Amino acid sequence: MISLKNVGKKFSTADGEFQAVSSVSLEINKGDVYGMIGFSGAGKSTLLRMINLLERPDTGSVFVNGVDLTKLAKKDLLKQRLSMGMIFQHFNLLSNRTVSENVSFSLEIAGVAKAERKKRVNECLEIVGLADKANAYPAKLSGGQKQRVAIARALATQPSVLLCDEPTSALDPQTTESILKFLQEINENLGITIIIVTHEMEVIKSICHKVSVMEDGRVVETINLADSQFKPKSNIAQFLFKKELELQKEEGIVNVR
Ligand SMILES: Nc1ncnc2c1ncn2[C@@H]1O[C@H](COP(=O)(O)OP(=O)(O)O)[C@@H](O)[C@H]1O
Ligand SMILES: [Mg+2]
Repeated sequence: MISLKNVGKKFSTADGEFQAVSSVSLEINKGDVYGMIGFSGAGKSTLLRMINLLERPDTGSVFVNGVDLTKLAKKDLLKQRLSMGMIFQHFNLLSNRTVSENVSFSLEIAGVAKAERKKRVNECLEIVGLADKANAYPAKLSGGQKQRVAIARALATQPSVLLCDEPTSALDPQTTESILKFLQEINENLGITIIIVTHEMEVIKSICHKVSVMEDGRVVETINLADSQFKPKSNIAQFLFKKELELQKEEGIVNVR
C-alpha cells in the first residue's frame, strides 16, 4: 500500500548540510500497524513526514496505492494528503476553537459543505467518546482527551492511513495504554493502516505488527513481531529487544527439557 524507494532528505544547517534520512526503502501493507523506533535525532519524524510529503524527499519515490506522490501536481497532492490523517506528540489543536470546531477544520480544508461537516464531526466525536465535550475548548481537556480530539480530527476525512508522530510521548503510562488500545481498535474496526513513530519500546510491543529500527537516518533492520522467534541482527535492535531475546532463550531451554 505504501512503498518508499530510496528516500533521502538533507537539511542545510549552520554547520553545513546534514543528511537526516539516507536512502530508506520499505513496504507497509494495508491494515498494518507499523512502528518506527530509534533514538532522538534518528530521522523518524522526517521519514514519517515524507510519507505524506509534508517533507519533500531530495531523492527517491513515495508510492501510496501505486501513485508516486513526488510526481503529483500540488492540487492532486493535496487530495492524496486527505487520505492520510496525522497526529502529533503535542496534539496541535487550535486553542481558540472548540472541540467540534477543531474536528471540523480538516473538513473545511477539504471543502465539505456545512451540513455534511456537522454530521461528520458528530460521528467522529462519537467514535472517540467525546460527544459531550463538543463545545469545550482544548484548555479544559486532559492530555488523553486532547489526543482523542486530534484523532477525531484526523479521522474526519475518512483516511485510509493514520500517521502518528510520538502519539503517547506526552502522556502518562495509564493514558498511554488507553490511547494505544484505542488506536488498535481503529485499526481493527475501521481497517485503517497505522504508522507510529516512537522512541518508546512499550508502544512497539503493545500494538505494532512490524517495526523498522532507525539509526543515523537509516533503517538498519525491520522486524516482523508476529514471529515470536524473531532474531534481531543489529546491535541497536538487540539492545531494544533485550528482554524479549532473554525470554525466547528461557522458553527454548524449557522446551528442550
Ligand atoms: N528542518 C530542519 N532543519 C535542520 N535540521 C533538521 C530539520 N528537521 C530535522 N532536522 C535534523 O534532522 C535530524 C533528524 O530529525 P528528526 O527526523 O526529527 O529525528 P527524530 O524524529 O528521530 O528525533 C535531527 O538531527 C534534526 O536536528
Ligand atoms: Mg521526532
